[in-house]
Amino acid sequence: MGRNRKIVSILLAPILSLGLVACGGQTTSNSGGSTGATGATDVQPMTIKISHVVAENTPKHKGALAMKSTIEKESGGKIKVQVYPNSQLFGDKDEYQNLVANNVQFIIPDMAKLVGVDPAFNIESMPFLFNNDAASEAFWDGPKGQEIFKRLEKNGVIGLAMWPNGPKQITNNVRPIKTPEDMKGLKFRTQGGQLLEKVYSGLGASSVSIPYNELYLALQQGTVDGEENTLSNIESMKFDEVQRYLTMVGHTRVDYVLMTNTKFWNSLNDTTKKIVMDGVKAGTEVARKEADTLNTTAFDKIKQRGHTQIYQLSADERQKFQQALKPVFDEYTKIIGEDVIKDALSRNQ
Ligand code: LMR
Repeated sequence: MGRNRKIVSILLAPILSLGLVACGGQTTSNSGGSTGATGATDVQPMTIKISHVVAENTPKHKGALAMKSTIEKESGGKIKVQVYPNSQLFGDKDEYQNLVANNVQFIIPDMAKLVGVDPAFNIESMPFLFNNDAASEAFWDGPKGQEIFKRLEKNGVIGLAMWPNGPKQITNNVRPIKTPEDMKGLKFRTQGGQLLEKVYSGLGASSVSIPYNELYLALQQGTVDGEENTLSNIESMKFDEVQRYLTMVGHTRVDYVLMTNTKFWNSLNDTTKKIVMDGVKAGTEVARKEADTLNTTAFDKIKQRGHTQIYQLSADERQKFQQALKPVFDEYTKIIGEDVIKDALSRNQ
């Protein structure tokens, strides 16, 4: 209950700043028309598109489906929501610009793909910064995280909520990775951004950014030796079919921003905004609830399939990776801002 209340209150911050003051909306005229669960008659009929790049058995897709069912139900079917997984509508390279152009109303990108928009989104790639989903959620729900979301508005974009996926593990096809030295000379795919590039060069490896929907083939064909991802992404895309080794490092994270655009948002009346925000809240709750569970079940599935040898680093071994990546951490603390990193670190319990 405390957790739900916290999500609801943080989700009010961007709405208040965008002029929807009365959360109940103006709902009560009685001029006919179908009414949804809200009882409102001035719901704007429309079709909303949600686009994302991952598979269906993921926290992101489950969150998007929860948004769909809440919005469709509360609008009494006047609002239809179409969810496009697997880069079917837009991929990594074009989803942000299509959001700005209002060709899609919601996207949920990995923050690592937004570092060109604002370097603060490098936070999830800061080595060993957050201990768990809860710490990352608390940072993004707090004032420093919300300030970063707010900066998106100058681009015509509204950051509505952080959705977690979780810690990234390293897979590759060449050798088991147990020490930083084992990384030397290998080539990895990253989600993009200079910080991730430096993480790999800091470990003596090289890296290249490849869109998510091209990654399976790149791993299969040996364009790269390996990649880093969450267990639920690895499992749902079957990357383990084409990767012999998986090391549980948890050095960086995949976390998302649920975003909409101002053109769409400003076209909504208060009743419709309220329904859409109820969808956002429902989606956020589901994504946050599912992320860790899906990573745990993905671990078991990958183990059962048996394509990949799994190696769990000891605390000492993990410490060696942390030491090797300290110069990168320190460099990016200055770039992101010492006050921001201090706040982020304080969220670890
Ligand atoms: C990746 O490209 O590996 C991830 O960012 C995909 C995602 O959205 O989780």
